[in-house]
Amino acid sequence: MPTSFPTRFAHAATGLALCTLGLTPGLAQTKPTAANTLTVQVNKPGAPVSPIMYGLFFEDINFAADGGLYPELVKNKSFEIQGQHFIGWNAIRGGAGLQTYTVVSDKPISATNNHFARLTAAQASPDAGFINEGFRGMGVKEGGEYTFSVYLRRGPGSVGGLNVTLEEEGRRGAGPEAAASGRVLAQTKITGLTGEWKKYTAVLKSAGTASHARLKLTLDGAGTLDIDVVSLFPKDTYKNRENGLRTDLVQLLKDMQPGFLRFPGGCIVEGRTLSERYQWKETIGDVAARVPLVNRWNMEFKHRSTPDYYQSFGLGFYEYFQLSEDIGAEPVPILNVGMACQFNSSELAPVTSSTATGGPSANEQHNHADDPTLDTFIQDALDLIEFANGPASSPWGAKRVAMGHPAPFNLKYIGIGNEQWGPQYLERYEPFMKAVKAKYPKMNIVSSAGPSPDGELFDKASKRLRELKAEVIDEHYYAKPEWFRENVGRYDNYPTTGTKIFAGEYAAQTVAIGSPDNKNSWDAAISEAAFMTGLERNADKVVMASYAPLFAHVDAWQWTPDMIWFDNLKSYGTPNYYVQKLYAVNKGTTMLPVQRAGNAKNGQDNLFSSAVADDKTGEIIVKLVNYSPEARPVTINLQGVKKLGKAGRATVLASSDLNAVNTLDQPMNVAPKDEPFKVSSSNVTYTLAPNSFTVLRIPGKR
Ligand code: AHR
Repeated sequence: MPTSFPTRFAHAATGLALCTLGLTPGLAQTKPTAANTLTVQVNKPGAPVSPIMYGLFFEDINFAADGGLYPELVKNKSFEIQGQHFIGWNAIRGGAGLQTYTVVSDKPISATNNHFARLTAAQASPDAGFINEGFRGMGVKEGGEYTFSVYLRRGPGSVGGLNVTLEEEGRRGAGPEAAASGRVLAQTKITGLTGEWKKYTAVLKSAGTASHARLKLTLDGAGTLDIDVVSLFPKDTYKNRENGLRTDLVQLLKDMQPGFLRFPGGCIVEGRTLSERYQWKETIGDVAARVPLVNRWNMEFKHRSTPDYYQSFGLGFYEYFQLSEDIGAEPVPILNVGMACQFNSSELAPVTSSTATGGPSANEQHNHADDPTLDTFIQDALDLIEFANGPASSPWGAKRVAMGHPAPFNLKYIGIGNEQWGPQYLERYEPFMKAVKAKYPKMNIVSSAGPSPDGELFDKASKRLRELKAEVIDEHYYAKPEWFRENVGRYDNYPTTGTKIFAGEYAAQTVAIGSPDNKNSWDAAISEAAFMTGLERNADKVVMASYAPLFAHVDAWQWTPDMIWFDNLKSYGTPNYYVQKLYAVNKGTTMLPVQRAGNAKNGQDNLFSSAVADDKTGEIIVKLVNYSPEARPVTINLQGVKKLGKAGRATVLASSDLNAVNTLDQPMNVAPKDEPFKVSSSNVTYTLAPNSFTVLRIPGKR
């Protein structure tokens, strides 16, 4: 049994049982042969394509939330991080201008937000203050407006105000020694202080663009000032929301036309221990009152240790639902099943007799935060469904309404457990699933087949979950690029009835799982494109798929590869992003079988293909992957096609260099290009570029 991530990854990288799947191992790039004629059986359509087939997997890893999608610029704004209350804050010149600076909890703002910073200066000084370093700096744009807000309370002395300066980092790193200030980008002074906590706001307009700015707060005068909930939030957010999300990143997601958004993970759902698990109820309501929690990815990898990684929950469950709505994706929350991460502590919440008999009773419906039983987790799930879908008259529905969303979020899917395995999972999954179904019979439940795509645990879980008539099983595969090409037939022999498959986490790893040297190379992406023809061909079995992880900050990542990379100002989609996008925007409505001349299998000779009809637009869509260094002419016989048009459109993603990547400076190095092509008969001819993924849209009906 694997015990840690690196161990598991080493195991998974080498231990994939390809041969048991009856596939041809070790396919190298070969020259194309004659079997390049394909027949698309337009007149023998297969299953409908799931309308939510291609979606997104979001997890707060690699600074995906704080420092990424969630654009708050101040790190540790409330000084609530246990034992490390000053993370992100550095006293100017090591505190030389201050008599004392400390974190205290003497008459705090609230019982949950019960720590704040107390700064005392013996005399007025420009150094009497501290600096917030942001998340690897703060990205600000020239002319951009940033709402500064803070809670202040004046103590003894004569502090007349708080000087607020947005400045460029004088010296990168912003450690305690980094006193030198860079260019001033914006300044203001907060005045009118009183002896009671009061919220103050001001708008800072940046005089310049800087990828590494920082926020300096100094006392105006001598004396004591209490400071809490310091925020600097861009006005430019998606849909201009007050607690909104980073525009460029949301746009990249929306452009994909994703079918669903899975959140909040990933292993973050589980936590390293049960007390560090993700608890959705702690992430809603007043943003200032949300208490931060350690991010389980902070120290997971020694080679990418990130001790300052915490979750502020500014991006909480309400915001996840709202994001799903904004990008037109079905929300798919994944919930803890009473198990901490099995790669870490493996803590378990006990299964109680009430769970076994159909869920918690009314008097058991309180949260045993310190010692939760499975009932607690089940109740959290039931309450979440009520929060998402319930009327204003229901206790949890009322909370959604109070947050500003009177209409239900129309939640249809929930995941029970992330990547759990073994009997411990199955014995918790079953009562959990039954309790949810008893109250919400229409809820679609996503179950887990564990972390590996094969092996005994996988087989046992899949068998049992099918016996339990699970609706959707979540399978994960992180493996070498060749695994993806070799496993294109993975689903060909899966049962066509009953339980469906969610390819919930997958990504080709160019070196090994967990290696910091993995690249989002074209080789990885084209191999995923090849594999995905197998997902599309099995539309009757596979109903959801998502690449993982989604986001990574170039200066703060733990895991690579990732679909979208960003710094504090810019972002780009990897070649893998474009593969996902091309599948999603060309998903069509009905699968069409594809035959190769000479009975060649899909993937034989490194030619991969799948086809769908788009009944909404009246087009046949053919996807072709030429994993070969040579151009490859193909003939596509659209068998039985009706109303064939002449103007086809090809979208081509290609690079002659399998190691090619996109970067912040060259974001479109490997990116799709559109070109028209002529359709002269139902035998469509087209020449595939070397190492290419091509989507052909041909006007025609089934
Ligand atoms: O995607 C990164 C991690 O891989 C996820 O958190 C976990 O579910 C899987 O092991």
